[in-house]
Amino acid sequence: MIAPPSPLLLRSLAGECLKRPPIWFMRQAGRSLPEYHQLRRGASDFIAFCHDPKMAAEATMQPMRRFAFDAAIVFADILLLPRALGQAVWFEPGEGPRLGPLPNIAALEGQVAASTQRLSSIGETLARVRVELEPERALIGFAGGPWTVATYMIEGRGGDRARARAMAVETPDVVDRLIDVLVESTALYLAMQARAGAQVLQIFESWAELIAEDDFFRLVTRPHARIIARLAELGVDSPVIGFPRGAGALVEGYADQAGAQGVGLDVQAPAALGRRLQERVAIQGALDPVLLRAGGGRLDARVETLLEQWSGGPYIFNLGHGVLPDTPVAHIEQVVRRVTGA
Ligand code: CP3
Repeated sequence: MIAPPSPLLLRSLAGECLKRPPIWFMRQAGRSLPEYHQLRRGASDFIAFCHDPKMAAEATMQPMRRFAFDAAIVFADILLLPRALGQAVWFEPGEGPRLGPLPNIAALEGQVAASTQRLSSIGETLARVRVELEPERALIGFAGGPWTVATYMIEGRGGDRARARAMAVETPDVVDRLIDVLVESTALYLAMQARAGAQVLQIFESWAELIAEDDFFRLVTRPHARIIARLAELGVDSPVIGFPRGAGALVEGYADQAGAQGVGLDVQAPAALGRRLQERVAIQGALDPVLLRAGGGRLDARVETLLEQWSGGPYIFNLGHGVLPDTPVAHIEQVVRRVTGA
């Protein structure tokens, strides 16, 4: 029997420098696709939608039918985990996530094992998608970074994270215990996703900005390293992409110490920084979603620049943050075509 072709994404994460980089976009499912909005109307609320394997698998597959992406990312949300740990989470239509009061830490600690159970529908979504997805396209599972999830749990919503940052220095013991809960529950959740069919795991640390170097190690790098070590202990060997968005110059220490095979770069990442990182890890990024939405000649020019500057090492073409909701489908097509040659 001939072995099936190894997905390009896995080859990049193994350190291979390919003729052309694999491409996928963060937040490629949902929001920007008209067929998503139609599907979404069939469910009462967003959380119920995420927990419905049939609907979530369909939302995962929608961008794969339209575009020649090299990877699918499971349709879910980083805030399903705090909900599974017992905190109230809901989405205000047109506004965004809202969370109830932070449960006391001992109560959260008691829910770690059960939280993975409560997320089993995400495993079912992955299993469904894996059956439908062509073998040369990779399937990505994900979770939020512990610090980012902690900021939502503390603040009760998105925002400037002022309260969470204050708490991290004023009551460090509470925040460290919260991070511990999230490290273990995230590792169990990601391990479950890998067993269900996720071949790559991404940690979305969307709020890694505005943190001093020592606290960055404490709140971002070390928790990621612990998740990755725990995955190995649980027998999971899927490569991990860590995305500390906004880390700036601290991303170098992160790439050295987190233990991730891939590191996501945000829109600010300098070309030379990316090349230095490529000596140690595969890099992913970093097209500006605003430019993707705008389209035109400047978009083409920037895509060329990114390909030129980073194609000499292991590289995964992606955005520097998620696809914006009002991005024209034609612009996504234009970039995917240029990168894949399809
Ligand atoms: O990549 C994908 O398309 C897969 C699905 C996915 C969603 N959320 C679906 C979603 C992924 C990977 C996420 C990650 C996520 N969720 C992050 C990290 C990445 C980032 O953008 O920084 C964060 C911070 C969240 C939390 C969250 N979920 C917010 C702030 C919001 C509201 C604003 C928004 O982004 O739309 C959500 C809701 C959400 N998550 C929607 C979708 C498709 C829109 C809700 C809807 O369709 O009703």
